[in-house]
Amino acid sequence: MLTEVLPPLASPEAPMSHARSGHQSFLQVEGLAKRYRADLPPVFEDVHFGIDKGEFVCVIGHSGCGKSTILNVMAGLEEASAGMVFMDGREVAGPSLDRGVVFQSHALLPWLSAEDNLVFALRSRQPDWNRKAIVEEAGKYLDMVGLGAAARKKPSELSGGMKQRVGIARAFAVAPKMLLMDEPFGALDALTRGVIQDELLRICKETQQTVFMITHDVDEAILLADRIFLMSNGPYANVAEVVVNTLPRSRTRDTMIHDPQYYRIRNHLLDFLVHRSGLAQQQAEQHAGQRSSGSRSGIRTRVVYPGLADPEPLLQDPAI
Ligand SMILES: Nc1ncnc2c1ncn2[C@@H]1O[C@H](COP(=O)(O)OP(=O)(O)OP(=O)(O)O)[C@@H](O)[C@H]1O
Ligand SMILES: [Mg+2]
Repeated sequence: MLTEVLPPLASPEAPMSHARSGHQSFLQVEGLAKRYRADLPPVFEDVHFGIDKGEFVCVIGHSGCGKSTILNVMAGLEEASAGMVFMDGREVAGPSLDRGVVFQSHALLPWLSAEDNLVFALRSRQPDWNRKAIVEEAGKYLDMVGLGAAARKKPSELSGGMKQRVGIARAFAVAPKMLLMDEPFGALDALTRGVIQDELLRICKETQQTVFMITHDVDEAILLADRIFLMSNGPYANVAEVVVNTLPRSRTRDTMIHDPQYYRIRNHLLDFLVHRSGLAQQQAEQHAGQRSSGSRSGIRTRVVYPGLADPEPLLQDPAI
């Protein structure tokens, strides 16, 4: 897959983070494909991207295009049919505490209380800490997700949203090198989601946490992400567009809605989901057909800056 930077809004300073740009990212995905059955087309193929240290990437795409599968391959929990994932220069060959995962459905140990689920994970990460220090740390993160009072409850005694929050607290507590999150806030009410999003932003700012997060919520993506990967529909899905978020990084839920860039980015994302994701799928399918007949045409990932009506702000704010 080639990477095409679309004029007129491209910036030479903007993060590209692709192997083809010659720059090796902290997390590098190269030519990833997944075919579950030999008699069916691949769910996705030719997936290339890089994520820099401290970068926050959101992935948006229609149901079934392979987002969770890509995340599971990155976590080392699933094998790809082709391609490789590298983190910190090493190939990902299995699960590791360096990659914390929040699953689409919670994955708690059912026989342990909420607190002990965190204690279990923290003990693997911090084998030298005594029980008191570990329980204190677990309590801090359970408080963060508003579950201090439910610490002794087992998963079966918690609601769906509460279980999801324990999973989020566990991933944050372990402070992995990379956080992989699969629609982590989908089951939460708007108020709790807002509180945890703010907390996530704070943690990322403080710790330079690198995050890859799947979401269906375009506003969440605009609030949190430095770049938003738009996946075409499956089969033959791939990352069709990389949207660079040009809103100031200091944005909050309140400030971003007063910035005209927000509406331009939002419209661009929605337009992709409604119109272009299907067209991109047809293109990819055609490309697969041409390739099997020997043609060398290539699918392009577009890097776009829909927030910028006028390239001027780039000169003023090169830190995006
Ligand atoms: N274990 C499996 N065996 C066979 N097919 C699978 C398996 N897991 C996923 N698939 C198929 O792969 C495709 C992608 O699934 P995946 O869960 O990655 O999609 P997704 O983009 O995360 O969707 P959603 O937004 O609904 O969570 C789907 O068509 C699904 O049916
Ligand atoms: Mg999924």
